Amino acid sequence: MNFSAQYEIYRVHFEEYLQKTCTGMVFETKILTESMRYSLLSGGKRVRPVLFFSALETFGARFSGEEALAFAVECIHTYSLIHDDLPAMDNDDLRRGRPSNHKVFGEANAILAGDALLSYAFDILLSEAGRDGAHLRAAQILSKAAGAEGMVAGQSLDLLCTGGAGGEKELLDIYRNKTGRLIAAPLMMAAALAGKDVEKAEGFGLCLGALFQLVDDVLDATGSAAALGKSVGKDAEEDKLTAVKVYGIAGARERADDAACRCLQILHTMTGAEGGFLADMVGYVRGRDR
Ligand code: IPE
Ligand code: IPE
Ligand code: MG
Ligand code: MG
Ligand code: MG
Repeated sequence: MNFSAQYEIYRVHFEEYLQKTCTGMVFETKILTESMRYSLLSGGKRVRPVLFFSALETFGARFSGEEALAFAVECIHTYSLIHDDLPAMDNDDLRRGRPSNHKVFGEANAILAGDALLSYAFDILLSEAGRDGAHLRAAQILSKAAGAEGMVAGQSLDLLCTGGAGGEKELLDIYRNKTGRLIAAPLMMAAALAGKDVEKAEGFGLCLGALFQLVDDVLDATGSAAALGKSVGKDAEEDKLTAVKVYGIAGARERADDAACRCLQILHTMTGAEGGFLADMVGYVRGRDR
């Protein structure tokens, strides 16, 4: 089966679980329920759930039955996007091809939708952790990746470096934490569940995360809002510390090519195989236009 068809199988499997779970999400206020559903169901590439399912299969385990963990990853990712778009952070009005959460529900409700998605993810993680030691390990991996030692730390440094501060070292720290940790987490979780080397999965995931953000930075400078579903040119406008700022567009593209090669090398040492879905995933992340 070709890469796109296989990606669709993983994505649709996740999407069906997501739809079903969202239908069952009925919380105390209608606006809270609606704002959580709005962002969860507004599309998105579902890269992290697809990485999780495909890594499980690569490691010789089944992905059916592990949907709740994929959902927890996507809840945390979605909350990070809602908060990232807030006026106090990146001040972005467009997300996943639709008005950002705070443009529809207001800033206060957007903050609460993010809070609720994060808490909901931890509720799921606690339930999953009770299944066995491997699920406990997977839950711990995601907990660490989300917070002050992971994505939130990266967002904090991203804000500190907005408006002129920082150079290449800070850029690489931002990449590792704000993006890398939530890309690496599903790969590490899959390794934990399959009894494989979690550190090797982390090495591959952090490299893929850096590639993902390199491309994201280039697309902000060169892509179209129609394809991306988010506003473009915002990084320069806000004077963000990006690869484009540090290396220029051509330099950032070269770094992305180098990162893609490095990802493939690490992947090879991780799986001992040439090619496969995760290798194609590297090409997909390098070549994406959305
Ligand atoms: C956007 O992530 C935030 C970054 C880490 C660059 P995605 O590009 O995966 O966003 P969706 O989920 O497809 O909308
Ligand atoms: C954000 O990076 C990464 C997150 C943790 C949400 P960006 O600010 O570059 O992501 P986009 O471009 O808004 O999706
Ligand atoms: Mg940001
Ligand atoms: Mg942003
Ligand atoms: Mg960006």
